Amino acid sequence: MKLKLTCLSVAAVLLSLSGTAQAKNDLAGFHSEMGGCETCHAGEKLKQIKQGLTDSQTHENQSCKECHGGYDELAKNDGHDHFDPHASHLGDINCTSCHSGHDKPELTCNRCHSFDDIEMPFADSKKKKDWDADWNQDKIQKAIDKGPSETVDVIVVGAGSAGFNAAISAKMNGANVILLEKNEYTGGNSMLAAGGYNAVGTPQQAKKGIEDSIEWFVEDAMKGGRYQNDEKLVQIMAEKSADGIKWLEEMGANMDDLKRSGGARVERTHRPSGGYSVGPHIIHTLRAAAEKRDVDVRVNSRVEKIVLNEDKSIAGVVVHGRHSGYNMIAADAVILATGGYGMNKEMIAYYRPTFADMTSSNNVTATGDGIKLAKEIGASMTDIDWVQAHPTIGKDSRILVSETVRGVGAIMVNTDGQRFINELTTRDRASDAILKTEAQWAWLVFDKQLIEKKKMVQGYEHLGMLSKANTIEELAKITKMKDLPTTVAKYNEYQKTGVDKDFGRDQMPLNLTKAPFYAVRVQPGIHHTMGGVAVDTDANVLNLQSWKIEGLYAAGEVTGGVHGYNRLGGNAIADTVVFGRIAGENAAKFAKDKQ
Ligand code: FUM
Repeated sequence: MKLKLTCLSVAAVLLSLSGTAQAKNDLAGFHSEMGGCETCHAGEKLKQIKQGLTDSQTHENQSCKECHGGYDELAKNDGHDHFDPHASHLGDINCTSCHSGHDKPELTCNRCHSFDDIEMPFADSKKKKDWDADWNQDKIQKAIDKGPSETVDVIVVGAGSAGFNAAISAKMNGANVILLEKNEYTGGNSMLAAGGYNAVGTPQQAKKGIEDSIEWFVEDAMKGGRYQNDEKLVQIMAEKSADGIKWLEEMGANMDDLKRSGGARVERTHRPSGGYSVGPHIIHTLRAAAEKRDVDVRVNSRVEKIVLNEDKSIAGVVVHGRHSGYNMIAADAVILATGGYGMNKEMIAYYRPTFADMTSSNNVTATGDGIKLAKEIGASMTDIDWVQAHPTIGKDSRILVSETVRGVGAIMVNTDGQRFINELTTRDRASDAILKTEAQWAWLVFDKQLIEKKKMVQGYEHLGMLSKANTIEELAKITKMKDLPTTVAKYNEYQKTGVDKDFGRDQMPLNLTKAPFYAVRVQPGIHHTMGGVAVDTDANVLNLQSWKIEGLYAAGEVTGGVHGYNRLGGNAIADTVVFGRIAGENAAKFAKDKQ
């Protein structure tokens, strides 16, 4: 029988052991002294352990939870004075994502944040070589030569929003599906999406009396993308956007908050009530929906090759599993949903050299794997060199300060406290404008009204990113923005009359009058890679002759064409849901027709 331990009681056991028998200096040693290998693994003997060890470490993670409780329980029990990492926006990810039994633990949060004061138990353990290092061509070839270890109808590569939507849709269309994710946990870049989901013709818009149309949605996206988008793709995204909201709601999502994003003429960005970030909410919803529908989701499983038959049709993939090593899985259809390349320094330096030194808001998973996989088998690329800088990443950080903050009412000022652009312009223009200021970074300034309205902004305060004062004068002093009081007085006047005489901002929902007042430093950083694999409106991947590669589909940020040279806020999630569903449905049909 397993012991029921809380974090505090683990600490007590640790202390008592340190006084008696010396526990080995890693998590595995400690547990084996408590109750043998079986405490964590599926058996005592190496053979049993290996048999029970999946790449997702399902048994091991279940064991952790049986003894220590779930994340919610741990978050309550922690007993530290800092916030508890178990209460993270990443959700109930695998325990082994941070606590590795035999190696040094790693605080996953620190891939984006810098929580240096959080002590990890067994921090002195030895760091093992990263399993994820090289794409080993010999091992890939051996796996192909050996033949498939499994056969399935559809393989989806990448478990962000596009991947989950594709996998669920394929499953609902009758296919056997495996969803493979290279990271230790699912969610991809979508997990970090702060803004929302652009949709037209929803009950939410109707309730607020917002007039909108598919034509406007398309025109706004085209204008934002400098008319370089594939209009047929944009049309599909607009037409199917409202149905995508309904689909998410049917799975349990709340998309009731509406806001206007930069470049959109009306409020069409849907998000959870209370102004919570959209990404975590959608991913939590999709994880649960996939589980409910028995989608086979595997983490720690990186696809390193798409395998073709002699006639160039899809034969399957080679997956590199953390524990299972290299194996081929046969499939009739493969869907690439691997996201963009915003965290691949080499690709950024090659395709967009001027952005080479920029920070990135992206998840570490955004390394362009799908582009590499598709290129290798002759896929064509669209707009591959177009990379978006988001104007407001927290200065010297990787934390996105959402466009919502400006959308809801913040002003953006230079280091002297002067406005210099319409805050609601498109991201490329806002980023350019910041980079043209002397400091190359800016401040967003807002007041209590805003922070009360949007829960997400309270998160920035929690992370210690905000400067705070009781008067604008005091804020100006703390932040050395000498002109801030004059700027705010002028802006409040414009807000009252509804006419921004300086920059033509046409939406000023809030004035800055209610103490306390806040400021946050921001700078442009890589946010979205617009280019990628060329696709048609059915999510088929196209080859260099623009013919479809039979059985290969792609959706989300791995593709190019939907957003042209610049993506509008809220269109990424719309893209992932709409084209993820299309890819899943078509892949399932393709697989069925082939059988
Ligand atoms: O700023 C933001 O909230 C980002 C939204 C998006 O990229 O769609």
